[in-house]
Amino acid sequence: MATQTIVILDFGSQYTQLIARRIREQNVFSVVLPCTAPLAEIKALQPLGLILSGGPSSVYDADAPAADPGLLELGVPVLGICYGLQFIVHHLGGKVRPATKREYGHAEVTIEDGKTALFNGLPSTLAVWMSHGDEALELPAGFHRTAVSANALAGIANEERRIWAVQFHPEVHHTPQGPQIIRKFVFNICQARGDWTPAHFIETTVASIREKVGGGHVICGLSGGVDSSVAAVLVHRAIGSQLTCIFVNNGVLRKNEFVSVQKSLREKLGLNIVAVDASERFLSKLAGVTEPEKKRKIIGAEFIAVFDDEAKRIAKKSGGVDWLVQGTLYPDVIESSSVRGPSQTIKSHHNVGGLPLGMKLKLIEPLRDLFKDEVRRIGRDLQMPEEILGRQPFPGPGLAVRILGEVTPERVALLQEADEIVIDEIKAAGLYNSIWQSFAVLLPVMSVGVMGDQRTYAYTCAVRAVHSEDGMTADWTPLPYDVLKRISSRIVNEVRGINRVVYDITSKPPGTIEWE
Ligand code: XMP
Repeated sequence: MATQTIVILDFGSQYTQLIARRIREQNVFSVVLPCTAPLAEIKALQPLGLILSGGPSSVYDADAPAADPGLLELGVPVLGICYGLQFIVHHLGGKVRPATKREYGHAEVTIEDGKTALFNGLPSTLAVWMSHGDEALELPAGFHRTAVSANALAGIANEERRIWAVQFHPEVHHTPQGPQIIRKFVFNICQARGDWTPAHFIETTVASIREKVGGGHVICGLSGGVDSSVAAVLVHRAIGSQLTCIFVNNGVLRKNEFVSVQKSLREKLGLNIVAVDASERFLSKLAGVTEPEKKRKIIGAEFIAVFDDEAKRIAKKSGGVDWLVQGTLYPDVIESSSVRGPSQTIKSHHNVGGLPLGMKLKLIEPLRDLFKDEVRRIGRDLQMPEEILGRQPFPGPGLAVRILGEVTPERVALLQEADEIVIDEIKAAGLYNSIWQSFAVLLPVMSVGVMGDQRTYAYTCAVRAVHSEDGMTADWTPLPYDVLKRISSRIVNEVRGINRVVYDITSKPPGTIEWE
């Protein structure tokens, strides 16, 4: 059965991805397209419904996003949200003007038409999250008002044309009835089946990989993280021994990780893994380098070189390699196609599994429609071990961006020890799964201490723990004092070479999660 899709057109709101998540939580697939997507592209997806997102512009701005108003004539149900409402009013012949009073934040809305399919059965007043500067002054023909707030129109509808719109944001958690409103649109109005489950995803993905690959050979770069492991397991399920995974030790992995990741992926998941210990190669290239971006570039380039060598070896053995698996996720896809211009590069991220240089490989990206938590759900359905699925994210350049200054084998060893203690204690306190990332950072700062009767002069270690939804923003985690105390005393006592521990209490922004 074909996958039913709700298409979200992104007019630049910071909440657009949230709309997609809210719909997917109802087991209905949804994709975000830039609002400038050609009608043909939208139609090709055979959308069950369309959602027009919010956005920062005014419909009268010279640079207002240029969406094709023909999307209101496709004959599929439409839900406009915030800017989406203005867009509908403006393009169907109504009038929009700058509001006399702007509304941002919490607001109360009174429902005037409790029978309209979007609000049917909801209480007559709703707490909502508003953000708008414009208001609709005159509605287009055939539309009526369905809700108002103290200062503005809050909802409109034209049932005949199957167009609904709200001025507030049902997708954010500050609108408690938001999920109900989204369910009404998805199920009552669009008549979705709600069958986009992990099992359905696995079945259709496995079938399509099998068909695509045929008898070809596939390689996959494993990092030991959730994304590449789930991608590999999906492909393995589709084509079994035609897949070879490459796992590279870049010398800046966590302690024992090169061995333990191989073991769990090989033994528990039955993957065919070629493990390459290239630590010396990486560390010698990193010698003397202190500049963070340079470290990243060296590791990225070296990774591709090592991967390339291995891929060629595998190609020789298996009579050729045709495909490369990448664990690209949906946020990366949206990021690169969004209406917003490319945001400033703060750090150049490289994904493990970067395209090998010398080979012309076709890409398989089985997760490119999924968010991180959805990847975990798929992994659980594939019965992958929790020790892999529950892992906190770990950057491609590994400990190199957590060793400030030069990366030397001695410093890597020091940080590996400290890092293991941090993770150990956070796990022992039952906090590991509720924290986005927790780790140690080795600072090139030496300070004086005293141990026993001895003066010490040694490195400083910073401990960092953050809460985050997606790594884009983060709050520092107030770890309980007793946990901090155990971490600090264990590091200073057990790691020779570190005599001082500090705790990083910076959120992102203005800080970043990693120190480099
Ligand atoms: P920042 O430090 O930019 O990190 O706040 C945001 C998230 O991205 C991870 N990160 C990286 N991941 N290659 C990666 O694959 C990189 O170069 C890189 N730098 C940061 C970081 O761990 C956090 O989850």
